[in-house]
Amino acid sequence: MPLLDAKDVNVYYEATHADRIWAVRDVSLSLEEGEFVGVVGESGCGKSTLGFALTQMLRPPAHLTGGAITFDGREVTGLSPERLRAFRRGGIALVLQSGMNALNPVRNVENMIGDVLKAHAAKSERPSSRQIHQRATELLQMVELPPEVLKNFPHELSGGMRQRTAIALALALEPRVIVFDEPTTALDVLVQAAVLKTIKELQRMRKFAALLISHDMSVVLGETDRTIVMYGGRIVEDQPSSSMLSGEHHPYTEALMRCYGDPRADRIELSDIAGSPPDLSLPDQGCSFAPRCKEAEEVCTTSLPLLHPWRQGRLACHTRAVGKNHIGEADRVL
Ligand SMILES: Nc1ncnc2c1ncn2[C@@H]1O[C@H](COP(=O)(O)OP(=O)(O)O)[C@@H](O)[C@H]1O
Ligand SMILES: [Mg+2]
Repeated sequence: MPLLDAKDVNVYYEATHADRIWAVRDVSLSLEEGEFVGVVGESGCGKSTLGFALTQMLRPPAHLTGGAITFDGREVTGLSPERLRAFRRGGIALVLQSGMNALNPVRNVENMIGDVLKAHAAKSERPSSRQIHQRATELLQMVELPPEVLKNFPHELSGGMRQRTAIALALALEPRVIVFDEPTTALDVLVQAAVLKTIKELQRMRKFAALLISHDMSVVLGETDRTIVMYGGRIVEDQPSSSMLSGEHHPYTEALMRCYGDPRADRIELSDIAGSPPDLSLPDQGCSFAPRCKEAEEVCTTSLPLLHPWRQGRLACHTRAVGKNHIGEADRVL
């Protein structure tokens, strides 16, 4: 049984001026104990919304419809606030892009960690100041920050240190799953690599399962076991990360791979494909990537491709249908 399992999850935003914006569409994914999975796709394709849905952090105007999310075999959608607090202990944590936003500007690091520990402790087990100090020191050590940082306020820390503090806060409740949403995007390249290394080491040592969300394929492929590619709110491909570097893939994955390793990846608009991401307020007729896809056939504009088993994972593409290509001829270099 997977640790985290999402089936047919749909999320829309209620927009005042228009219809609903369907940011996540029919997403099914599962995460095994200790697995490290990446989620990639251009900005606006629904990655963060999915991260919020999985961690039960969606707030209006976002609405989850249909589908089911289970953690350790138990349904976690629609939990009462009390149950939700219990679920956060040993459950799922979320680390956001900007450490600063997750941190309380008027609390020092030790107090912030204390706040989290107190808020989620059972009534009979309220931690003492000494226990908080000890645990906070331990957590800082895990994220490779010196103990002096305990007394610092967020504005006194660099971007990298803030992001490490945000990770320490997420670790405080010993989650079994952590969703990292663009954890290094706001950092410069060297700091980014160091923080990613810490995340990877923590994941290996603490054995939590992780979902690493990024617009940058090179961030995800370097760290993860499996990579999920999203386009227009849907999963279009899901494969072992090691297989992404070669062979045939979804045409959108192949386009992302052409930007691989380019430090401008966040600004690249997939220059070799004309057009822009789909309007998420419209129902999709056919494949939402078809208007930008050089390989699109007629069927791609009329019928929605469903995820089906492909190579070692899953794929949603008519032009890569089983039987048209087989693994033997798929090893052309991108
Ligand atoms: N609060 C909101 N209200 C309305 N639309 C939103 C809101 N947040 C996100 N969206 C829309 O949902 C879609 C997916 O956004 P998001 O999940 O942030 O994508 P990503 O993380 O991949 O950049 C985008 O079209 C975005 O404009
Ligand atoms: Mg995002």
